Amino acid sequence: MSVIRRYSNVLYRSCSRQSLWKPVINRAHFHTSAPLAVVKPYILADIGEGIKEVQIIQWFVEPEARIEQFDKICEVQSDKAAVDITSRFDGVIKKLHYQADDMVQVGKALCDIDVQSEISPEDEAVITPHSEQAGSPGSAQQPQKATAQHDQTHLDRSRTAESARNHGHLATPAVRGLLKELDVDISEVTGTGRDGRVLKEDVHRFAATRDAEHQPQELHPPPPRTSPAGVEDAQVEETIKLSPTQSQMFKTMTRSLSIPHFVYADEIDITALSSLRQHLQTSKHAPQKLSYMPFIIKAVSLALNDYPLLNARIDHLNEKDPSQTPKLILRRTHNIGIAMDTPQGLLVPNIKSIHAHTLTSLAAELGRLQHLAQEGKLAPNDLTGGTITISNIGSIGGTYVAPVIVQSEVAILGLGKSRTIPAFGEHGEVVRKQVMNFSWSADHRVVDGATMARMAERVKGFVQEPATMLAKMR
Ligand code: COA
Repeated sequence: MSVIRRYSNVLYRSCSRQSLWKPVINRAHFHTSAPLAVVKPYILADIGEGIKEVQIIQWFVEPEARIEQFDKICEVQSDKAAVDITSRFDGVIKKLHYQADDMVQVGKALCDIDVQSEISPEDEAVITPHSEQAGSPGSAQQPQKATAQHDQTHLDRSRTAESARNHGHLATPAVRGLLKELDVDISEVTGTGRDGRVLKEDVHRFAATRDAEHQPQELHPPPPRTSPAGVEDAQVEETIKLSPTQSQMFKTMTRSLSIPHFVYADEIDITALSSLRQHLQTSKHAPQKLSYMPFIIKAVSLALNDYPLLNARIDHLNEKDPSQTPKLILRRTHNIGIAMDTPQGLLVPNIKSIHAHTLTSLAAELGRLQHLAQEGKLAPNDLTGGTITISNIGSIGGTYVAPVIVQSEVAILGLGKSRTIPAFGEHGEVVRKQVMNFSWSADHRVVDGATMARMAERVKGFVQEPATMLAKMR
């Protein structure tokens, strides 16, 4: 079981103030008040904190397409979110440097635009500091007059058919990976997601129907064949590229390997919490959906007031410099990350400032994040700044879990599936109890076992007797 945090290396919505794509311009051609007649490559700027690439989901334009300012150019996906890239200028698209599904590295040109509008001083301020990006494809191509660009587009025209085919067929990279894996053409699949987005289930359904009708033996990977006794079948292997989410998980979890985990688990009686939840759900003031999570999130936050160490992070400073010793950074605000199972894979948005939330507003915020996560539309702010994580794997199944801490935190809580068990009551009678396993992992370099156990006990107290939370809530 692993939990990944999306760090603050985020994609920003492309607009006049926040654009990933910074055009490279030769200042000799640059005027702030006159229309430009130059072809400008848009390059992916360094957005920091580790993001090195994004994946093109779909193009909205093709070479020779006329665009206006704020028209959508393409949709890209990082490990964090899907983002529409819009144009800063009026002009004509001259060249697409990538096809749908391609990965784009930071510093590479996305497309070339023959700019036919003025550049505002505001845009100039953004463009100027980045106008000489050595080594990027953008800088390698000096701006050229629009008339000289037509010969560049012949290569792109062959790509355009592919781009156009993808246009209108929305799918996340994970789904596109599955399409490739199952050899399914997206245009043949009816998407049941929002705006017709093709989901994994749609692809599986399509492939199952197709294969049932035609050639089940071509399912990928092929089903094991029965071999004569004593004869080994040759293994069939297939190489698949990691999706952006998996790539990020790979890096994050590899870093987590350096953390010595102290694991602590306990069975929590949630009988009272369960009946309180049921009672609240029938109230006319109840939120549409009230799961266990808002109560548990609140319990963790209240306990953190007494054990702030569990909300800290370790500042590794410069590990190469032995004179720099690691430090603990205590964080006052509790931003609790919630591990979410989404069509793109695991995402961990966080709910900010838990102390300021009621149970109802927590439920609403959780619902909002869950909805955006399913759509792949979480905002960068939702994915950054988490201080501790809860992973409710029990909503899927499983009793025990050993959750993995991410480097920017020192603890994580994993929840198992609740279950009803027989137990002894006060007078030895057999009673029904509902229980859930809480499994904690703490960074044992800075959190000792006793502190973790005390924190876990405090949370247990709040969850087993939810009324005690009321006294502590603001
Ligand atoms: N045990 C039993 N039932 C549970 C449960 C648990 N631990 N957690 C949730 N449920 C129930 C809920 O009560 C709800 O049932 P209901 O509609 O009858 O009330 C149902 O499961 C669905 O709940 P869900 O929509 O998942 O809401 P939630 O607030 O409990 O959980 C998420 C929200 C985002 C945590 C959850 O949807 C999710 O994605 N979990 C997977 C996390 C994950 O992948 N972790 C692994 C990380 S490596």
